[in-house]
Amino acid sequence: MNIAILGAGGFIGSHLVEHLLARGEHSIVGLDIEDEKLQGIEGPAFTFVRSDVREVPDSVVRDADVVVDLIAYANPSIYVESPLEVFRLNFMTNLEIANQCIRYGKRLIQYSTSEVYGKSRPPDTVYFEDETDMIMGPTTKQRWIYAVAKQLLERVIHAHGLLGEIDYTIVRPFNFIGPRIDYLVPAGSMGGPRVFAHFMSALLEGGPMYLVDGGAAHRTFMSIYDANTALQAILDSPAASQQIYNFGNPDNNIMIRDLAPLMMDLYQEATGQAPRCEPTEVSGETFYGEGYEDMDRIPPDISKLRALGWEPTRDLNETFGDTIRYYLKEAGRISV
Ligand code: UGA
Repeated sequence: MNIAILGAGGFIGSHLVEHLLARGEHSIVGLDIEDEKLQGIEGPAFTFVRSDVREVPDSVVRDADVVVDLIAYANPSIYVESPLEVFRLNFMTNLEIANQCIRYGKRLIQYSTSEVYGKSRPPDTVYFEDETDMIMGPTTKQRWIYAVAKQLLERVIHAHGLLGEIDYTIVRPFNFIGPRIDYLVPAGSMGGPRVFAHFMSALLEGGPMYLVDGGAAHRTFMSIYDANTALQAILDSPAASQQIYNFGNPDNNIMIRDLAPLMMDLYQEATGQAPRCEPTEVSGETFYGEGYEDMDRIPPDISKLRALGWEPTRDLNETFGDTIRYYLKEAGRISV
């Protein structure tokens, strides 16, 4: 199969390229403007196309059997600072890619987000792909433009599917974690990347580990390696056509205020040294700016994915332990 991965230079894309190349069954074309995260990932079955993701050449779509679209801004600080940029890239650009797939009759695997489910629910509920209502915050909390743009994209693709115009699968990721996620920041800085990168920076340098709004929100974290095998199951299963899937590990649900000590323990285990950082509470508006609002995300139902024969394999300790060791090694703090 010829697979085009759009946004191959990002965290998810670089792992997907590596995973699919190791399987040795497919030809991969990876498109991105940057290839830093792809360094060392190579092989005769892989071609890198350096291009702005806003201008995907027709030939990349035309020559593929399957297009995997990973293009998106996916850091909450960007939703607050640049909502129109988020709309343009996450909706307009992706809509154009869906149109290219329709034009050339190509299968599309579109990465969406767990955020489409929106705001909090009673704690005993779970998210079902085809049943759960989506509850968005007010327009004046501009952080929701991300979830709404992704949700509308899903709906437009589904509508084309109803007309028989596109063969699609939509993926809703729940907080993937692994090496090469985001980028490290100076300890103590606010906004910027996701929670792992902030906490890792605090572990490496010492300083505050900010618990936004007390760290009361839950997240369900999934190993990037489990995310790769889940995508493999989608590629291998004709039943995944015209379907939406949660990609998550419901057993890995944790409150952010409990994640901080977990990462501190894993750091100590790996280095033999006590971390020099301190969990510190901060408000969401101070950390992200005006227009931020959080959700308390509950675990996904993954029975649709399990029906394809897939199971998650990595728990929180392994997922965060591996990733922390990767960054410690990069920083020269440990050798293995
Ligand atoms: C982001 C994206 O918006 C989602 O679309 C995407 O699905 C998700 O990442 C993902 O990786 O799958 P979010 O879960 O809010 O969403 O990502 P984080 O920035 O990692 O925040 C997680 C929680 O940690 C939030 O409650 C946030 O307020 C908190 N946080 C973040 C801290 O307490 N401290 C920090 O230093 C950073």
